[in-house]
Amino acid sequence: MAFIEVIGGRHLQGEIPIQGSKNAVLPILAASILHNGITRIKNCPKIIDVYHMIKLLESIGCIVTWEQNGLTIDATEINYNSVDKKYVSSMRSSIILLGSLLGRNRSVTISYPGGCAIGARPIDLHLKAIKEMNVEVIHNEDIIFCSTSHLTGAKIVLSMPSVGATENVILAAVKADGITIIDNAAMEPEITELCLFLNKMGARISGAGSKTIMIEGVEKFRDIEYTLVSDRIVMGTYLAAVAGTGGCVTLRGNCCNENGAVIDTLRTMGCRIGVGKDYINICSNQLPKAVPLIETETYPGFPTDMQSQIMSVLTIAEGTSLIIENIFESRYKIVNELAKMGADICVSDKAARVKGVNALTGANVTACELRGGAGLVIAGLIANGTSRISGIEYIERGYENISKDLANLGADIRRVED
Ligand code: EPZ
Repeated sequence: MAFIEVIGGRHLQGEIPIQGSKNAVLPILAASILHNGITRIKNCPKIIDVYHMIKLLESIGCIVTWEQNGLTIDATEINYNSVDKKYVSSMRSSIILLGSLLGRNRSVTISYPGGCAIGARPIDLHLKAIKEMNVEVIHNEDIIFCSTSHLTGAKIVLSMPSVGATENVILAAVKADGITIIDNAAMEPEITELCLFLNKMGARISGAGSKTIMIEGVEKFRDIEYTLVSDRIVMGTYLAAVAGTGGCVTLRGNCCNENGAVIDTLRTMGCRIGVGKDYINICSNQLPKAVPLIETETYPGFPTDMQSQIMSVLTIAEGTSLIIENIFESRYKIVNELAKMGADICVSDKAARVKGVNALTGANVTACELRGGAGLVIAGLIANGTSRISGIEYIERGYENISKDLANLGADIRRVED
């Protein structure tokens, strides 16, 4: 098995580009099957979750080809409606095919995606919403069969602004008869990106990025080429790395105005940050300051996907910080691994109290989920001595090449095939 080896203590310097967005491209790949034609996506990240989604699309009849970081999806022939269980269980976000297969073929068979390391990840809101669009949902404990003779627009009120449920309703609604209105919709930038993509394909969606989204069903779509936005969480991860190691770095990407809450937190920690249209510059030449309270919230609040990375930096902050994780019920898996490096963190229910220590010490640690793994890489950059991070298949689900990116900023880090 491969692992990441990092020798900590170096400041980060220099400039790197940020990869395309994982959480934007996955629903966009699902959306591509709504059109029985050709879709081209540029700036597509080469990550495990994208490879999985490509296998899913190929398993239902799509022809998918890479050209550098460009993907071409030919969805002219979709000859299956059932999504293979092995793909759904290995990547829960494949549930996003529910909406697009309903939109395309009016029926879909898919297995329950199940939970993962960070939580139970139910899909009750997804199923409740599509039932209101005249879809019959039949299920047992692991298979869901959905079908409709007449997919109709509806007024959907989400009891919570679920990102995935919002995306599934949009994907079903763009080819439904009539108008769909989503109240209490998720406002994450990935929703906006999906709607920009769909509107370019010929959909009629308004209100993306707000709590109320309106979709007018259409018959036909057209071939398009779409360039993906940069990944705001990858950008935030590298900003946090600089906050921990010190140094001065410029990150290039067009997601800079999507990181407001993270930038505010890093400024509170003492970082100097400049934000341009397509770059963020961060400098830090002091120990990070503690943050009295960080609460994860839906967008535009502090993103849950950045919680572990900031926690790693706060382990060496001057003072004690309090983190409240409001979105997922078990997103503190990183704490035990950070403790092996000397961190002083106490968890009670949703709260994690992080008491700054003088230094972390390099250790052998194991990632068990994506963002916690990225947090361990940051801890390795900060620690004195050598750390080995195993379980990097979780990290490579969302980061194209975290070792290369950080090495290009001067870190002493490498991916090692065991
Ligand atoms: C998306 O997951 C992202 N994944 C997650 O990023 C991100 O953390 C999350 O949104 C929140 O921003 C992708 O986009 C592929 P939710 P999703 O539905 O859609 C509960 C990463 O690290 N819920 O907004 O699954 C759920 O249990 C990943 O890149 C229900 O109760 O998020 C959770 O507690 C991790 N019933 C909360 O809502 C439902 O039907 C947020 O879930 C759906 C969700």
